[in-house]
Amino acid sequence: MTTEVVDDEVAFYSKAQKYWKNIPPTVDGMLGGYGHISNIDINSSKKFLQRFVGDGAGKVGANLALDCGAGIGRITKRLLLPMFKKVDMVDVTESFLAKAKVFLGEDGKRVENYFCCGLQFFAPQSQRYDVIWIQWVIGHLTDEHLTQFLKRCKKGLRSNGIICIKDNVTQEGLVMDEVDSSVCRDLGTLRKIIKLAGLSMLAEEKQDNFPDEIYQVYSLAMRPS
Ligand SMILES: C[S@@+](CC[C@H](N)C(=O)[O-])C[C@H]1O[C@@H](n2cnc3c(N)ncnc32)[C@H](O)[C@@H]1O
Repeated sequence: MTTEVVDDEVAFYSKAQKYWKNIPPTVDGMLGGYGHISNIDINSSKKFLQRFVGDGAGKVGANLALDCGAGIGRITKRLLLPMFKKVDMVDVTESFLAKAKVFLGEDGKRVENYFCCGLQFFAPQSQRYDVIWIQWVIGHLTDEHLTQFLKRCKKGLRSNGIICIKDNVTQEGLVMDEVDSSVCRDLGTLRKIIKLAGLSMLAEEKQDNFPDEIYQVYSLAMRPS
């Protein structure tokens, strides 16, 4: 549990905020120097998400998606804008959202809202989104804040809507990163948090073809229980 490694919550969040303020607003910056894996990541995410989005019974609509911890819009640009009519973005780092307005180019006109806010505070508008995509940011939230955030996301879904988390996982246990002030959880802990938030797992997929030296990465899709 994060309570075992985070003894000062205020410092945990402010240290992360300071860390990201000093990171260049580039794809490489978003991926901690692993910009070259962005294509593999996006292509796998596309296949994963396409299973759920489209026409037909039980399928997710393609109207509006929310990109959480969106950064400069790496995912918004290549995954969400090509699949959804509109996208909202939320991130705590103002300069990343400012960069997104340039980085996204013409298609950025279809970004309806740029919310500058920590996810620990952010509450999506009720019944607004077809898909809420949360990638490489949950480690910046404590267990309690992640659970509460997922509960608020659940309320932000339209009918048939889904939440997707894509993130690093440890083989076992919790690992603290003092440099960017984040935690990495194991899959079992993540599943427990998801259940506690009142969500049921639709799919779990391990990312292939990432470098051996980095954490394993999982894509998880979930829906209100
Ligand atoms: C590793 S980057 C990932 C960016 C993007 N999801 C991607 O995959 O390209 C982490 C992002 O999370 C943001 N972030 C960190 N703590 C946050 C918080 N508490 N609430 C919202 N965003 C946060 C950072 O500003 C940064 O943009």
